Amino acid sequence: MSTAQNDPDSSTNAKGAASEGSSDAEKRKGRYRRITTHVLHEMKERGEKISMLTAYDYSMARILDDAGIDVLLVGDSASNVMAGHETTLPITLDQMIDHAASVVRGIQRTLVVVDLPFGTYQSNPMRALDSSIRIMKEAGAHAIKLEGGREVKKSVQKILEAGIPVMGHLGLTPQSIYKFGTYTVRAKEEEEAERLLDDAVLLEKLGCFALVLEKIPAELGKRVAERLTIPVIGIGAGPHVDGQVLVVHDMLGLTKEFNPRFLRRYLDLYATIKGAVEDYIDDVKSRDFPNKKEQY
Ligand code: KIV
Repeated sequence: MSTAQNDPDSSTNAKGAASEGSSDAEKRKGRYRRITTHVLHEMKERGEKISMLTAYDYSMARILDDAGIDVLLVGDSASNVMAGHETTLPITLDQMIDHAASVVRGIQRTLVVVDLPFGTYQSNPMRALDSSIRIMKEAGAHAIKLEGGREVKKSVQKILEAGIPVMGHLGLTPQSIYKFGTYTVRAKEEEEAERLLDDAVLLEKLGCFALVLEKIPAELGKRVAERLTIPVIGIGAGPHVDGQVLVVHDMLGLTKEFNPRFLRRYLDLYATIKGAVEDYIDDVKSRDFPNKKEQY
């Protein structure tokens, strides 16, 4: 594939063009040269909200990093949006490592967190550690994320003992979809909310550096964020948590069918790309492309 970066004929210097960000973005990037788990804690202490998006490939990671995103999550949502599976369960560790390595090659500043896929950490702590080590060594990632609370306690401990930063994930945990049967809002009842709060406190005590809360009432998101000293990052967890995460394909409008209330779409890339491709097809069919300037 020929890109602006490696095509000697290209009239635009991709690096130069990319560095012309808005001054707000430049200021944000200037504040922290590199985002670390320590920086995220400082952000929480200072009341600065943390921005996080998913990424699965080099080109997108490069743009998101250049825009000044704080955290990139190589989510197992790759199973849905990249591979077209109905759930996150089928994606393998090898596939996650490939996605993660591509993302790491695209970033300069962002913290890269990688999901441990289903089946690579639940069975025993040694398996969890081996999976995490592969992600850190083979992809060059900075941290891992896994789903669950007390039931994954030993795995979390084992990974942390090896010096690998762990991000927790509570609330709606898509890897357990067949146990719950629906993607509805979690922890609406006080008993489940208390259990989630206890799990959050446990994950912090074990040494997790941050926690993702998915699809829970905003009031519970607030309680958890106030209770914990580690950053709490929400997706459908309301405005009071310490940061927000979205799946990049959803916020850019590359996906069409997924429309939960928490999703804000910033673009309709599905329509934009479809329109551009239709134009290209028309140009090829009509012999308008390539024109005199576009040939040798
Ligand atoms: O895999 C993923 O994209 C995630 C986010 C929804 C937090 O876990």
